[in-house]
Amino acid sequence: MYAQELEATAKAMVAGGKGIAALDESYKTCNQRFEKLGIPTTEAMRRAYREMLLTTAGVGEFLSGAILFDETIRQSTRDGLPFTKVMIDAGVIPGIKVDTGAKPLAGGPGETIAEGLDGLRERIAEYYKMGARFAKWRAVINVSDRLPSRYGIETNAHALARYAALCQEGGLVPIVEPEVLMDGNHTLDRSYEVHLEVLKTVFNELYRQGVKLNQMVLKPSMVIPGVDCPQSVSVEAVADATVACLLNCVPALVPGCAFLSGGQSDALATVHLNTMNAIYRGKLPWHLTFSYGRALQKPALEKWLGSDENVSAAQKIFYHRAKYNGAASLGEYRPEMEIGLV
Ligand code: 13P
Repeated sequence: MYAQELEATAKAMVAGGKGIAALDESYKTCNQRFEKLGIPTTEAMRRAYREMLLTTAGVGEFLSGAILFDETIRQSTRDGLPFTKVMIDAGVIPGIKVDTGAKPLAGGPGETIAEGLDGLRERIAEYYKMGARFAKWRAVINVSDRLPSRYGIETNAHALARYAALCQEGGLVPIVEPEVLMDGNHTLDRSYEVHLEVLKTVFNELYRQGVKLNQMVLKPSMVIPGVDCPQSVSVEAVADATVACLLNCVPALVPGCAFLSGGQSDALATVHLNTMNAIYRGKLPWHLTFSYGRALQKPALEKWLGSDENVSAAQKIFYHRAKYNGAASLGEYRPEMEIGLV
């Protein structure tokens, strides 16, 4: 029923020069980030913070969409304009996080399963009415010598596909996000091996459950060594391993892959995306862009600090990080672009 709309939205989400802002931190995650900076962890502050980001002038040049949390999609600006209206007016498609978090997986020590399938059909219908046109579900995969298990991978892939099928039925483009965490000391090769198995299993489940590949967006992690891995690798090695892995696993019908940043610094996340596009853009069946959370927001949050006085300086920083990543989605980012900006 929604096939044409879904395909058009999925294409727009990964259009050249643009990416997606992940502004969908749960209460807990948002509050943790606020606490670290001494910002009060109140609903009013979370609203003010999201207003600062969403009202940044011109950001729609580089953002095709933004993912909101349930609390945020119901909020408005100080002047009473619903956030979804602000976004639509700026050409930024509203999206919504619909998983309710990764919980311990029973029978799978050290592993998690994303929850949120119960009542999802009804929630999707409500979000569609509120103006959302895409959704996100994040599965979290831990890496160690013995993890992930087949059981952990399969249960998460199964849930991702159930979510994706429900989204397409209800008119939302599913962002399918299997995040292989960077925590640990695993090597680049081990990261590649885990990504390969996870992505192959996810696409197998999407196929089994009838998910239309032209009406979704993949949100993968980059193939990158664990943060505690003693060996450092070049930016080109990460770009080559990530693209090789995606070519092995992601069918050509998928319009695009929008990476998460996963704890990389803002600068490195931009450079990795840029390197992939500088080398491979035009030679791949799908677009490669960003759907960053921390790598887009962190410097802006650190400037804002909950104060009205800092809004315009923080917006300037947010605008420029979006601009650099927009350039990286074309392989046209240059570090000189950042000179003169803090
Ligand atoms: P990060 O870019 O901070 O990893 O967040 C992206 C995201 O949406 C995680 O679900």
